[in-house]
This record gives sequence, structure tokens and C-alpha cells, in this order.
Amino acid sequence: MTSNPKERAALAALDLVEDGMKLGLGTGSTAKFFIEHLGQRVRQGLDVEGVPTSKASEELARANGIPLFELAETTVLDLDIDGSDEITPDGSMIKGGGGAMLREKIVARASKRFVMIADVSKRVQTLGAFPLPIEVIPFGQAATIGEVRRELERLGYEGTDISLRSAEAGGFFETDSGNLVADLKLGRIEDPKALDEALTMIPGVVTTGLFLGCDVHQILATEDGLLNG
Ligand code: A5P
Repeated sequence: MTSNPKERAALAALDLVEDGMKLGLGTGSTAKFFIEHLGQRVRQGLDVEGVPTSKASEELARANGIPLFELAETTVLDLDIDGSDEITPDGSMIKGGGGAMLREKIVARASKRFVMIADVSKRVQTLGAFPLPIEVIPFGQAATIGEVRRELERLGYEGTDISLRSAEAGGFFETDSGNLVADLKLGRIEDPKALDEALTMIPGVVTTGLFLGCDVHQILATEDGLLNG
């Protein structure tokens, strides 16, 4: 058994996968473990197909021989297995550390059940220590950020540090949909629903990294075992 908590969580999620399932394939370092182990099972004969939540996960899934398909109007996925940057005991999350939150949200919405896999450090009582990513379209981005700043002040978040995410190779980070990501250092989010509603009402903001109200099965792992398991 691995001592890596992310891999341990991924392996526990694999136990929930059954023959014939349609799966959402998450993004990030924890989801990577899941996709790699799922690939091993597929090569041993497991019959599943998946919808990837990013170009990176699509490439990884293809390299691991996992059959992929596109969401149709009526597609209902059995399980969506994905990581998180922060999660509260009631299953509210901040995601998007890897910038994939838009596709991740679409796939989560199409799934009957969301299985969140993470190391236990992602468990928080209140969201917000992790900077909240928001996806912003490039046109008018400065004006959009200005609106975000004013809306945050109206909601009581004074002087929030907002930064456009940089790419490792230089320039701004670009999402799989060709948009930008702004990271909001809020510190503490008292009312995630009100914040999410206010931010997504701003033209130019495509989505936020807040995932609220999903039916989440949480798998949180330590080096020794699973939290509550
Ligand atoms: C990707 O955009 C994110 O939502 C990831 O799911 C999240 O950042 C967790 O990533 P790790 O598994 O790498 O911590």
C-alpha cells in the first residue's frame, strides 16, 4: 500500500468504480493518480468510459488506454472523481488550483455523484485561505477585475489582493477555454453562496472555483489511512 495520501485517496475511489460505469475524470495531481490506476484496471478488462475535465487529463487518459466520450444532452455520469483545493465538512469546495474549474463544474453537474479525493490537508472549517480562482474572459479583463473589486468591497471584503495568474512559461495562464484566471486572496469566506452569486453576475466572469451544493462523497487520506475510514 502506498504512503502517498493522494494516491491512497485515488485508490479508495477506484473501489467505487464498477463495470459499465460512465465516469468524470478530474484534473490535478490527485486525479492523475486515479486516472493512472484506472488505466491499469482498464487494461485488465474493466469496461468503463470517461469524460475528462481538462486537456491534460484527456491526454493522460488516452495514454492510459481509457475510452473517452463527449457529454450529450442526456448524459448522466455515474461518478465524477476529482480533487479539491479546500473542502468543508458539509462538502463546499474551492477548486481551480489547476485552472480547470469550468470544465470540472460542467462534468460535476452531469454526474449523479461527486467523489472528492484529496489528502487531509484540504479539509477546512471555513473556505477562503486558498485564493479563490475565477475565470475571466480576456476582452475587457481590466474592467471586469474592477467590477470584481467593487463587488467584493460591497460584500465587505476590503482591499482584497487580486492577481491574474501567470503561466510557467511566461505571460498569463490560459485556461482550456482560452480565458484568464484571477486569484482572489479573501482569507475567509463567510457566505460562499452569496459571493458566488455576486461574482457570476458580473459580465466577463465565466465562473468561480466555488463548488457548492454538490452531493459529495469525501475521501480524505493521510499517510496511514483514510479519515473516518
Ligand atoms: C484543478 O483545476 C483543480 O480543481 C484540482 O482539482 C485541484 O486544484 C486539486 O488539485 P491537486 O489534486 O493537485 O491538489
